[in-house]
Amino acid sequence: MSDAILNPEAPAAPEHVAIYRQDYRPPDWLVPEVTLDFDLSADRTRVLSTLKVVRNGQHDRPLQLAGDELKPVSVHVDGSQARWALHNDNLVIELSGNEGTIETEVELSPAANSKLMGLYASGGILCTQCESEGFRRITFHPDRPDVLSRYRVRMSADKTSFPILLANGNLVETGEGEDGTHWALWDDPFPKPSYLFALVAGDLGANRDIFTTMSGRKVELAIWVRENDLPRTRHAMDSLKAAMRWDEEVYGREYDLDLFNIVAVDDFNFGAMENKGLNIFNSRYVLADQDTATDADFDNIAGVVAHEYFHNWSGDRVTCRDWFQLSLKEGFTVFRDQSFSADMGSEAVKRIDDVRLLRAAQFPEDGGPLAHPVRPESYIEITNFYTATVYNKGAEVIRMMRTILGADSFRKGSDLYFDRHDGQAATCEDFVTAMEDASGIDLSQFRLWYSQAGTPKVTAHMIHDAATGVATLKLAQHVPDTPGHSGKQPMVLPLKTALIGADSGAQLGDERLILLDREEVEVEFEGVGEPPLLSINRDFSAPVLLQSERRAGELETLAASDPNPFARYEAGQELMLRALIAGARGEVIDSSPVIEAMRGTLMSNALDPAFKGEALTMPTEAMIGDRMEIVDPDAIHASRDALRRAVGAALTALLSEAQAAGAAGSDLSPHAKGVRRLKSVALALLTAGDPGRGAELAKMQFDAADNMTDRQGALMVLASLDAPEREAAFGAFYERYRADTLVLDKWFALQAASQRPDTMSVVEKLAAHRDFTLKNPNRWRALVANFAANQWAFHDASGRGYRFVTDMILAVDRLNPQVAARQVPVLGRWRRFEPQRAELMRAQLERIVATPGLSKDVFEQASKSLV
Ligand code: PHE
Ligand code: ZN
Repeated sequence: MSDAILNPEAPAAPEHVAIYRQDYRPPDWLVPEVTLDFDLSADRTRVLSTLKVVRNGQHDRPLQLAGDELKPVSVHVDGSQARWALHNDNLVIELSGNEGTIETEVELSPAANSKLMGLYASGGILCTQCESEGFRRITFHPDRPDVLSRYRVRMSADKTSFPILLANGNLVETGEGEDGTHWALWDDPFPKPSYLFALVAGDLGANRDIFTTMSGRKVELAIWVRENDLPRTRHAMDSLKAAMRWDEEVYGREYDLDLFNIVAVDDFNFGAMENKGLNIFNSRYVLADQDTATDADFDNIAGVVAHEYFHNWSGDRVTCRDWFQLSLKEGFTVFRDQSFSADMGSEAVKRIDDVRLLRAAQFPEDGGPLAHPVRPESYIEITNFYTATVYNKGAEVIRMMRTILGADSFRKGSDLYFDRHDGQAATCEDFVTAMEDASGIDLSQFRLWYSQAGTPKVTAHMIHDAATGVATLKLAQHVPDTPGHSGKQPMVLPLKTALIGADSGAQLGDERLILLDREEVEVEFEGVGEPPLLSINRDFSAPVLLQSERRAGELETLAASDPNPFARYEAGQELMLRALIAGARGEVIDSSPVIEAMRGTLMSNALDPAFKGEALTMPTEAMIGDRMEIVDPDAIHASRDALRRAVGAALTALLSEAQAAGAAGSDLSPHAKGVRRLKSVALALLTAGDPGRGAELAKMQFDAADNMTDRQGALMVLASLDAPEREAAFGAFYERYRADTLVLDKWFALQAASQRPDTMSVVEKLAAHRDFTLKNPNRWRALVANFAANQWAFHDASGRGYRFVTDMILAVDRLNPQVAARQVPVLGRWRRFEPQRAELMRAQLERIVATPGLSKDVFEQASKSLV
């Protein structure tokens, strides 16, 4: 919203002004039609825009059109020169009537646009990125999501350099122009907000297919990439068709245009973008084959392709009223893509992965200085709110509604929501209301999930009366304070719960859904004959931190026999965490319970290999730290290392067997993926027990691999060793893949994640490597984000890691503030660390804030982290 910009009392640095959700006002002017004419070239692009504007309501305020780094060449109102002024980049026009036609002309240089927002060049392709506020870098426009327009777009460009011209909607007409140019005219029949506008011009080839919708309409599908990359688009196409079918079957949603285009570009700030009918992707979420992509890459591609496709309904047909409502589309769409992936593979393994991500990325956010509700109250730079809270916790909120309502009512609610708000810009409140109206269930208190930040803490305590056969479960909740918000109300926490017999290991009675909706709740279970064990928050039905007293042997029994696979996994992880935390505190630990649990997992005939791979993966060092009062990275590292050594030494034979198994690289079935997952997890544990033998085995696995999963798994193990095999493998990998951008990212990432004392020095050298660049977000993140996530190396007591990451943030901020800002939160966690490190981290944040010319993106994240 640009209203603050004309406020005469606004501070001198208008870019640092906070915008509040409560200040929302409907737009002063609507823009029913937008006509754009692009004369495209990399260095100099001319944009002629014609907006039909209509006064919205009774007021006499001027028309304000947002601009960002735009210089108007000309402005016309109803065909004549107009009275206009520029206020902080925004165009202000006084209009006497209630309607008008505004024509503006601007000139852009896509090649010079290093922010990758607006119109930019990526490897010879011209493309756009408009969410959230990139359209104003292309032309003057209100550029807010509640202004929906019909778009007609003419693009003209040199035919040799840009043989393919794409935009939203349908292709109406093409033709030849002068001087070797050609043009295309596109029309999008669906009114859309400006953030969904897109165009692409480039030398691209298409993988084409046809999808027949449930009503029998034929949709032309195309995935556009460089000609050479076409063989690597098959999986993305299969995923797209599967997603289209799934959305019909599960949500009753049919695709609505005759064309659906996907384009892959190498330089992209996020994962992908759901522009209407023309999704633009980071190439890492499109391109894959057996030789260059891991199973995880394949799964991510399916998930992201589905996610962007699902946005066609949850995002495009029904969009957001304002950016505070971002989770309306993102939380819902993440939930939809999670469900899709669960249906395509193993539900339990997918849930384990999603929860791991939530704990790794969202819990720290919720517990730190940047904590914000799923529906934030204010922002300085909206791009900073594309967070794990809005996306992943937002998805958990949708999931909880489905758990509480049941599948049928939830589907009725989503039908009602789409039906009621089709073509509108809606709010989170609208979504919840639709769910209430369809189900008859009151969600008043549940709405607190949208307004209260912080991960609720739940404590559970159970007593069993053997004489009466009654087990009493006492549950309590507490929602912690977060910056600017204390004294919170109790939330609605849906907890799937069952009791497991301590002697029999069998489930006693049915699973129950307990709604913990007060500070304390007591629940009774009757007819409990044997001592019961508590299996609670099964499937992670509520995103909470659970503390439950556990007697000796309890977690062991649950880890071996809980029939709910997620709960079983959780018990095993909890068992490991207890040992790891005790070890980090310097206590002498008995590793045998963990070893025996892992032995049981490895020997089980009932468990599939994918689950075994998950169950044998120890909590990361960061996760251990998250569970401790004060983080001491060295102690945590030593503790985890010791437990891994003990496991590796004790289970050599079983681990060797799992490592020796394999699956043909061409086999992408869930089973084959599981076998490969387990193979590399086993290799890593074996190596912990015997590094010499591990180096040999890893090199053998590396050399024999017929797929990237095995190859990368081996290289990851070698990365942390001090052995000649390490250099040989990294050298061979580099020689083989040096020309392949996406695979070379792995080469950087693996070295940045390595667990060796010299990692810092290696990473500093890699930052000066000829293949490193600040300009490509994937490459930058491969090195910097992976290093910063390497707790032991990043948090080196010298503070060298903090200085390095800060240098990299400041360097990239001058080119691309969005990429820079996303790396600030790792420093913002300083309060969690022991005092010397905390001080060193804080000093780097001070240094960032004191840097002249800082972007508002980085300013917001760094200044809030210091408060
Ligand atoms: N809306 C995109 C998605 O979640 C993410 C995105 C945001 C991409 C901003 C680019 C810029 O699918
Ligand atoms: Zn999304």
